[in-house]
Amino acid sequence: MPTLKGRDYIETQDLTADEIRFLLDVAVDLKAKFHRGEPTPLLPNQTAFLLFFDKSTRTRNAFEAGATQLGAHAHFLDSNVTQISHGETGKDTGMILGSMGHAIAIRHDLILDEGNRFMRDVAAATDVPVINMQCDVDHPTQTLADLMTIREVFGDDLRGRKIAVTWAYSPSYAKPLSVPQGLITLMTRFGMNVSLAHPPEYRLMDRCMKSARENASSAGTRFDVVDSMEAAFEGADIVYPKSWGPYDLMLQRQGARTPEAMHGIEEQCLALNARYKSWICDEDKMKLAKHQAVYMHCLPADRGAEVTDAVLDGPQSVVFQEAENRLHTAKAIMASTMRERPFSSQ
Ligand code: CP
Repeated sequence: MPTLKGRDYIETQDLTADEIRFLLDVAVDLKAKFHRGEPTPLLPNQTAFLLFFDKSTRTRNAFEAGATQLGAHAHFLDSNVTQISHGETGKDTGMILGSMGHAIAIRHDLILDEGNRFMRDVAAATDVPVINMQCDVDHPTQTLADLMTIREVFGDDLRGRKIAVTWAYSPSYAKPLSVPQGLITLMTRFGMNVSLAHPPEYRLMDRCMKSARENASSAGTRFDVVDSMEAAFEGADIVYPKSWGPYDLMLQRQGARTPEAMHGIEEQCLALNARYKSWICDEDKMKLAKHQAVYMHCLPADRGAEVTDAVLDGPQSVVFQEAENRLHTAKAIMASTMRERPFSSQ
């Protein structure tokens, strides 16, 4: 049985398939115990720091409630009110927080080529596990919950199942690329044929596309890129349409440090999104997928833009099961990676 004690959880690519299966087994066990009302105090007196550079509902609460259920404490930190906002580095932050607690979980997802790098700087400076609560590259706590949900619906043997990962229209904000990137890299490893679709301006990071192609080749699965939601949905078992920002504009955020500059880029992103309002998941498009196909979304979803209410609230939607699984997978990751600090008299 693999041990992940002391290990970071930054990208699913960093773990073997057996290590991911181990986390899923732990999550299934913790979920069953939660529903039986059985306590799971696996991490008494431990502290997980939760450092957020972006907003969250599911992830923050999965980790806070999850830590409580494990007998630990999750300590919320808004990066804007830490010294990071005055320029303190990831290295120094990692050394300080790592000396005071047992894990550092981070969400830093808004700027391409920054979040993942920051997490790896933190991880290099501390022995406690660093957990990625979403970066520019991956959202590995989300995709673990997604895989858990897919296994609950279709069983553990997913060979030959097709998942459609597609862009969808959003008028609300330019969303990170990390969910589709995490899905194409993880699901290709677990038997699924992945069909990716997006308008031309919404390409994903080259390194993630490369990983998805290599994973599919190693696992004997397919990774196809098509040019419409309809083509991706055709014959799918799972559809996962969601919005993300246009690549070149998201890249420009790197140089935009003032609120005005960020606002200008955001306006351009939303104007581009608005050209593709037909990329909505509705009941007609769901008919292109298999009769028993499920609709998934990491949430929050833009109702009436990414997806109609009829689909989101309909019989094929598993989004709330998927959201609950965020709790159990967060607990599995914390319980498996955090460890007692060795007692020292110094
Ligand atoms: N899916 C997800 O990560 O949700 P939050 O942004 O609310 O954490």
